[in-house]
Amino acid sequence: MRIRKPRAGELARVIEVERAAFGPDSYSVTTFLAHLFRDRKGVFVAEDERGQVVGFVLVRLGLGWLRRRRRGGITSLAVEAAHRRQGIGTTLMARALEYLRENNVQEVDLEVGVTNQAAVSLYHTFGFQRSRLLPHYYGANRDGMRMVLDLAAAAGTNRVRQAETCEGD
Ligand SMILES: CC(C)(COP(=O)(O)OP(=O)(O)OC[C@H]1O[C@@H](n2cnc3c(N)ncnc32)[C@H](O)[C@@H]1OP(=O)(O)O)[C@@H](O)C(=O)NCCC(=O)NCCS
Repeated sequence: MRIRKPRAGELARVIEVERAAFGPDSYSVTTFLAHLFRDRKGVFVAEDERGQVVGFVLVRLGLGWLRRRRRGGITSLAVEAAHRRQGIGTTLMARALEYLRENNVQEVDLEVGVTNQAAVSLYHTFGFQRSRLLPHYYGANRDGMRMVLDLAAAAGTNRVRQAETCEGD
């Protein structure tokens, strides 16, 4: 498995992985594209041994001049069901955090469903902590929570350095 930038023509495949993972909670194509256009470098894919995209992570960079500490975020992370529990989500997250660190981000946030045990466990392994409950964030009676990682303080203690080689920008 290798982490790299998506190639031309792979957007449809990334959206396919996203749809399969999130179902009715998937982003619309427009929203997905808007995220990509906001930071076209902030997307990484995982490919299997045949070169097929089986996972992705979408990252956002905050505007540096808005806050004292530069913020970034994980917008979306998904791995195809057949390829889960093989460390791909971890490697994608590690690459995303490395990218944020390269861009001088000090604090990383994300939103996740409170019952999404797989994702919450993964985020905990990187040191993300719950910062607040987001009632009905995913619809009626489907609460989310915001989780935050102090990337500056976590330097050297989280799994950022596990990132594998990534194709050039
Ligand atoms: C969350 C997700 C990306 C994890 O991807 P993955 O490739 O399976 O993750 P990893 O194999 O790297 O797992 C890393 C750790 O996360 C935790 N984890 C992963 N899946 C888990 C599960 N089903 N139950 C409990 N813990 C789980 C474990 O701590 C695991 O470490 P371990 O395998 O050594 O026990 C994947 O389950 C997914 O795509 N889910 C659907 C989309 C989604 O919910 N995305 C997150 C949106 S906020």
